[in-house]
Amino acid sequence: MNAEQLQNLFLSKRAKTLLHHPQGMGNYFTFKSAIDILGLNWDDLLPNGVYNVTGKGYYDMGYMSNHIGPPDSAIKAFKDHAVLEELRVYPPDCLPELKALVAEHKFGRKLGPDFTVMGVEGAQGGIGYTYLTFLSEGDEVITTDPAYFHFVPAAEACGASVKAIKLGPHNGYKLDPKEVEAAITPKTKMIVVCDPINPFGIIATKEELLAIADIARRNNLVIFNNVTHNTHQTDPSAQQIPMASLHSPETPMDHVISVSGISKGYGMPALRVGFMAGNPALLRGAFLLKMEITKIHINYPGQYAAMAAIKDHDYVLKSTEIIRRNLTHIEETVDKIEGVTIPIKPQYGFCMIIDISGTGVSAQEISTGLLKYKIATITGDGLGDVGATEYIRLNYSHPDLECFEIFRDALPKAIKDAQTGIYKEGVIKFFEGIGSSRGNSIVKKLQSL
Ligand SMILES: Cc1ncc(COP(=O)(O)O)c(C=O)c1O
Repeated sequence: MNAEQLQNLFLSKRAKTLLHHPQGMGNYFTFKSAIDILGLNWDDLLPNGVYNVTGKGYYDMGYMSNHIGPPDSAIKAFKDHAVLEELRVYPPDCLPELKALVAEHKFGRKLGPDFTVMGVEGAQGGIGYTYLTFLSEGDEVITTDPAYFHFVPAAEACGASVKAIKLGPHNGYKLDPKEVEAAITPKTKMIVVCDPINPFGIIATKEELLAIADIARRNNLVIFNNVTHNTHQTDPSAQQIPMASLHSPETPMDHVISVSGISKGYGMPALRVGFMAGNPALLRGAFLLKMEITKIHINYPGQYAAMAAIKDHDYVLKSTEIIRRNLTHIEETVDKIEGVTIPIKPQYGFCMIIDISGTGVSAQEISTGLLKYKIATITGDGLGDVGATEYIRLNYSHPDLECFEIFRDALPKAIKDAQTGIYKEGVIKFFEGIGSSRGNSIVKKLQSL
């Protein structure tokens, strides 16, 4: 049997949903697609099959790893707890001290009879368990377009369908409560409030959060509040507010599930430590799903490293300075390049969009050109229909200023190369090979240019 026959015969409906999904891993355009177009060697860029570009001379502005890496305090705590006694047992889902710290520091609410924290495998684990716990076949989920890669495919794999609210200048690139209310149908089950929002780095105001929470409360909807990008205050005048922190007798937040991790704020994605928080009655469902399906407990060294990192305020201050510096550098670069804009200035984290629609070529062609000049990026088609061929998403966390100097030099060259048309065929071939609906419309668009 060939691959397609095997897949048709044996894969579950769930897995089949993802095979040709435009946002399934491998189905959207990234620097990995550009490696093949340029005829480069994968092992030179991604030794041992790693996820991020670590090859010599390259800079990774693609996936959202915090390139600053962990604080020394966390590495020490990790080493101190990598000992026999702590490795030979199943750890608790989260140490009580870590639960308390995360509740207050990441979600702004104290532990109590109505609020608890559960350990999960990264913020991504929190997405998975939230969807598995609350979504059933036929439910609808409200999210944004664009949105973090997995919000749409993961919901669809759970049998739900997605109503995406398009983001743009009209709504400030974030959820507008009025649009949220208008998107609700009798089938709606959940609203995804990613705040700060990946990919724009924009935050919701207190009024917006309260309004969305109120709409959800009145309609018996669960809110999934993903705050994993809320550690670095890129814009000193912005203040991110975790929804759980707005809990009061007048505004109960029992319908809010909060998620965060340590990959973004503290540069430790390898540890796969994350947190899911909410009312214990609801988390009981998530706990059971976790135990029955994956039984992933987060390891002791990782938990102690997380604890040390979250307490390390000096690290957060220093890494925030680096991120602010980098953003200013990118703004100066974009300012000088015709056809490229920053649709909205990010307020938190290190995730942003540049819009290349004024260049006359696609984001995918420019992204290919960027890789030739050693800069790895990801394009908009992995995040949604909006900006699919116009947006390039940038991770601006690299501590080495050279990354941004190279980017400054590379971007105009990459645009020029792309404008000659040399990458068009390669990009078309990539999407033809995927066969997703979005990929097919990108092919048509590129062919008509
Ligand atoms: C919004 C959002 N949620 C979750 C994740 C995954 O985080 P983790 O590494 O903690 O699983 C990311 C990573 O980019 C993200 O941007």
